Amino acid sequence: MLVKFKVFRFDPSVDLKPKYELFDVPSEKDTTVLDGLIYIKENLSKSLSFRRSCREGVCGSCAMRINKISNLACKTHVFDVMNDDSVLIEPLDHLQVIKDLVVNLEPFFDGIRHVRPWRIANLNEENVEKPRKIDMNKFLKTMEAKSCILCAACYSDCNVIDVDRTFIGPAALVKVARFVSDPWDSKDGRLREAIDLGLFKCPIDQECEIACPRDIDIRRGVVEWLRYQCTKEGLGPLPTHKRLVQNVLETGGVVPVQDTPAFSLFPEYIKEFEGEPQAEVILFTGCIINRRQQDTCRAIIEIFQNNRVAVHLPKGQTCCGSPFMRTGQRDTMKPFVTQNFNLFNEFAQKGITHVVTSCSGCNSTLRFDYPQLAKEYDIPINFEIYDIGEYMAKIIDLNTEDLKETPLKLMYHYPCHIKASGLEEEIYIDLIGKIPSLELVDSPKSGLCCGGGGGVRSAYSDLSDALAIRRIEIAKDFGVNGLVTNCPFCVISFERVLDLKKAQNEDMGFELYDFYRLFADAYK
Ligand code: SF4
Ligand code: SF4
Ligand code: FES
Repeated sequence: MLVKFKVFRFDPSVDLKPKYELFDVPSEKDTTVLDGLIYIKENLSKSLSFRRSCREGVCGSCAMRINKISNLACKTHVFDVMNDDSVLIEPLDHLQVIKDLVVNLEPFFDGIRHVRPWRIANLNEENVEKPRKIDMNKFLKTMEAKSCILCAACYSDCNVIDVDRTFIGPAALVKVARFVSDPWDSKDGRLREAIDLGLFKCPIDQECEIACPRDIDIRRGVVEWLRYQCTKEGLGPLPTHKRLVQNVLETGGVVPVQDTPAFSLFPEYIKEFEGEPQAEVILFTGCIINRRQQDTCRAIIEIFQNNRVAVHLPKGQTCCGSPFMRTGQRDTMKPFVTQNFNLFNEFAQKGITHVVTSCSGCNSTLRFDYPQLAKEYDIPINFEIYDIGEYMAKIIDLNTEDLKETPLKLMYHYPCHIKASGLEEEIYIDLIGKIPSLELVDSPKSGLCCGGGGGVRSAYSDLSDALAIRRIEIAKDFGVNGLVTNCPFCVISFERVLDLKKAQNEDMGFELYDFYRLFADAYK
């Protein structure tokens, strides 16, 4: 079949501005984007410029943006990415265009050079000039990081680089992890250097990881791992992150209490409907919903009551500790894991085994970090953790008949922690789509960071605000009334910048909708 390639064209030596050219490219099941570009160059436009060499995902030279996500052209099949029989091809972002799809990679390689990408030998009297055996188990992280092919796809899709060019970028951090994890490297100031180059600026939204053709675990395996190494070496976390732990230990939560906490507003067991429940859940709210977003807690309870789900709201739950895991403070987690998992185990003894979380940060922490930690602390796990949207979509028989018309045009904001929990955005897109008259506009696939994650809000608030504003502006370009999201961190980030802009008389004319409040209101 013929597939339309819409290709970015720009020759700065003659063109005043870039343009897009359309080419019909014969494509079959195995045709790659690179095959298509070679076809264009050989048959339709000899002047088209792009880089390639190995054609098999090894050299890293053919990275470009394909339908707005950076990837290797030689490893991307046309049929896997085409939309309505067409594919959009653009050069990597954040790098100056030399011609068409060829960019100047110097800023990217400057970052790599900056972190000294060579082994600084760890020689001392004991091991100098003696044969040294490799313990492969100690080299696993080094090996993963070594698989980077320096394609710059992650640099192109990095949200922070878009608003702060002083950030060194994900590939350079991968390089730092490669040497810090290498038992033969002396480390020689590498962690200090990484902090200075922005290790704590990353809100761990994982867009780099999605782009990476080598599937390098950049969020957990590189950024969070390096932060943990900083803590172990006494170099991290940043002072503001240390204070977060102190806040929780002193006050019970990471954010200050605003109004009456949800735990005081609602009883510990809520069943307001007649007859048998279809399910019974333990609601884990997280600090923000308990302390600042009590209306969201009310909405969640209403959604469950409308669906004949009895809710336990145990006041003995405590902060999940997500901000500490994200900022390298793994060793502070024991009290949080112990208190929460012991509580859930007590419920499990009574036959109540479903824990639902309303905060996506709590969900990814309870689901991915806690099990490993619980194993270390010898705590059994006799229950299951669900995200509320996941529970509504997959576990219960959802009442959609009573949903009322809600004429809004919105875009869904997919929280990075929901992504980190391995949950597809379609779960929420489908749920929102069940509300009559609500039009949901497709979201672009990149530029999706609210700026609120990874401890960035507390340490670099200007950077965090810039990311939130950028995300709102991307949505506004699609002509929607607002964003709808299900993460309380995202809600705080967006509401904060909308309020800031209003206070500066620069109203963005945009609304933020909390998924739970929107869904509960649709039942009224
Ligand atoms: S997680 Fe996001 S901000 Fe951090 S390095 Fe990756 S793309 Fe950049
Ligand atoms: S980390 Fe992945 S995306 Fe980034 S340069 Fe290396 S291989 Fe490419
Ligand atoms: S041509 Fe070498 S990675 Fe694509």
